[in-house]
Amino acid sequence: MFYRELLEELEVLKKQSNYRELKVIKENYTFDFSSNDYLNLNLDKKFKKNFTDDLDYNKISFGSCGSRLLGGNHEEIRGFEQEIDEIFLKKSLVFGSGYDANTTVIETFYSKGDIIFTDRYNHASIYDGLINSGVKIVRYKHLDYIDLEKKLKKYRSSHKRSLIITESIYSMDGDIVDLDEVVSLKHRYDSQLYLDEAHSYGVLSYGLAYTKSLVGEIDFIMLGLGKGGSSNGGILILDEIARSYILNKGRKFIYTTAPSPIQTSWNRYVFKNIPSLEHKRKKLNLLKELFYRKLKEKNIETLSTEQIISIIIGDNKKCVEISSALRASGYLVYPIKEPTVPKGTARIRLTLTADMEIDKVERFIEKLSHELHKKT
Ligand SMILES: Cc1ncc(COP(=O)(O)O)c(C=O)c1O
Repeated sequence: MFYRELLEELEVLKKQSNYRELKVIKENYTFDFSSNDYLNLNLDKKFKKNFTDDLDYNKISFGSCGSRLLGGNHEEIRGFEQEIDEIFLKKSLVFGSGYDANTTVIETFYSKGDIIFTDRYNHASIYDGLINSGVKIVRYKHLDYIDLEKKLKKYRSSHKRSLIITESIYSMDGDIVDLDEVVSLKHRYDSQLYLDEAHSYGVLSYGLAYTKSLVGEIDFIMLGLGKGGSSNGGILILDEIARSYILNKGRKFIYTTAPSPIQTSWNRYVFKNIPSLEHKRKKLNLLKELFYRKLKEKNIETLSTEQIISIIIGDNKKCVEISSALRASGYLVYPIKEPTVPKGTARIRLTLTADMEIDKVERFIEKLSHELHKKT
């Protein structure tokens, strides 16, 4: 009975062209348009070699073998946090994932009687934190600050704590927040501000807040290390008191094994080198300019503006067919469907990464255009 019920639900997903399964990535893909390794540090042999050359296998542990509050608070992680603090002039706390960092802040500091204003398109980890916290959730229209202000006006005053949550670069839409505007609203409506920088860390140096010198105005910043950081993990940048509070009350910080020292060492190395990766960011910008110009020439519409480019197809089946055709031609491209994005907005999500060759990108756009115009 149990498995039959599960199977029935899975059959429904199959009928909706919305069934997920793990795919084996074959080596013969000539071009990866699905990777979030925006600076391609994972492909950079010299960069990686410099890291491994400096590793002392006798000194570094591979596993942390304990939570941060017990045996897992290794020198590597403490040293990393100190270096982050020096750059951001605030306190930092390293987590094993961006997911845990996001949910921790929301669940630990906010509860019934409080209110959280969240951009409609915020990441699932943010929604999970919201659901667990028991706060009143108010979703505002994506990047629509008029709507956000309308909702702040209506609901803010009848609640105790108030938090606004936004991402910087949106993972499924490839657009970017107007951070000055959100900071101004936060101040005007006596709220706190949470900024998820999962897709901007590395791409915009130490992130959007850092680049715009707005770190001091933002209560919580989450730097995701799993994309532009070519790794995994998440860093919270926060006030010292808030940090101490998490050490005492943050369940996803307390009851988990600390990130491994070897992984932290790589994260630390990437972090240290962020300023020296300007040549990669320049190349990425060049690719962006080219890509958007070519899309325009081919009359391919997108609302994206950043290194993530979403082409909305709408229909699941059509979206699956287009991405399959592109994969069959050697381009690693995936369809994104609900519940990751709203129903009826299935899309081809493309990512640009710094080491892509310009002529190959141009050839891909020809192929993309061909497949899109064939299907629409
Ligand atoms: C915007 C955003 N926030 C948070 C996360 C979660 O980060 P992590 O993968 O490190 O758990 C992701 C992606 O995975 C993301 O895209």
